[in-house]
Amino acid sequence: MILSHLLHLEGIESIVVESRSREWVEARVRAGVLEQGPVDLLNATGLGERMRREGLVHEGISLHFNGLQRRIDFRELTGRAITVYGQQEVVKDVIQARLGAGGQIVFEAEDVSVDDPASATPKIRFRLDGEPREIACDLIGGCDGFHGICRPSIPEGVLTIYEREYPFGWLGILAESKPPSHELIYANHERGFALASMRAPRISRLYLQCAVDEPLENWPDERVWDELHTRLSAGGPVELEVGRVLQKSVTPMRSFVAYPMQYANLFLAGDAAHIVPPTGAKGMNLAIADVHLLSRAMARFFKNGSRELLDKYSDACSWRVWRAQHFSWWMTSMLHRFWGEFAAFDFKRQLAELEYVSGSPFASRALAENYSGFPLE
Ligand code: DHB
Repeated sequence: MILSHLLHLEGIESIVVESRSREWVEARVRAGVLEQGPVDLLNATGLGERMRREGLVHEGISLHFNGLQRRIDFRELTGRAITVYGQQEVVKDVIQARLGAGGQIVFEAEDVSVDDPASATPKIRFRLDGEPREIACDLIGGCDGFHGICRPSIPEGVLTIYEREYPFGWLGILAESKPPSHELIYANHERGFALASMRAPRISRLYLQCAVDEPLENWPDERVWDELHTRLSAGGPVELEVGRVLQKSVTPMRSFVAYPMQYANLFLAGDAAHIVPPTGAKGMNLAIADVHLLSRAMARFFKNGSRELLDKYSDACSWRVWRAQHFSWWMTSMLHRFWGEFAAFDFKRQLAELEYVSGSPFASRALAENYSGFPLE
């Protein structure tokens, strides 16, 4: 959606093909942290009006562990801040902007496929209300997520996959409850990781490390609140307001990179090309950084026929992709319990690392720099 908006600002026509309904994409709860760079981009491209009103600007986070509550001050360490604003709110804003500008978004497209991405006019085929449709394209942006159809439409042998899975997931809840702190709390407790985030002054977004294959029935609301309270108090007592749970789900944790992000006229962006474990909230930010570069490369192509930026797209994205891969893996490794042979050693090692990263101005600056994000090129 953002790619389509950025192309529109360059005078380039596009059609967004979405398999879900508008209601579904606008309601789907995802992460909610925007780095400074994406915030600046949304503002500069006319998508920031509601975000400026409703987004919650945070200048730091707290790390709770081993009886300590330590704050990392992003503003002081980097001069930057983050904005807490749900991904589906960004989605609502960009859909409204596209439709308001006469943009074309096809919702509820069925049986979508990409036909021959290597031809000069690759086609997107789908069914709409049962009728077959076909779009002849110059270029295709594959922005359809990890489970989308674009990456699998690239012939075998073209992509190299780099991947690792984690032996746990995140149970996420959205709740009518006053956030326990005005900033995010990341807690490492011997029972596992917990995170307290928010969406609004009286809406909390809360996460617990859990087993990946654990049925939601194992997590009645009362258990969720008890466990959140215990784990978030890893650094000392935290007050948690129990409220109505509005949504509950389990997310698996995976690091994944497909390289290159291009096959002929098909360009992958966001989760279609790479996913990170959620710790540190890089997913939406990386997707925005990708389409920022992709829109520029596509604009150059349509202005003077040059494929130079298109052909450099993968490598231009790579540095940020791998920086985020490392950061997300590192935050995940530092904050979650890894049960097994080395559990006792790993826990002590994590506590030492948390103490260092929150106590040393050198180490905390590295966390703050990565978390608040590197400026978009
Ligand atoms: C949120 C998600 C994250 O993965 C994170 O690290 C911080 C906040 C969120 O959904 O608010």
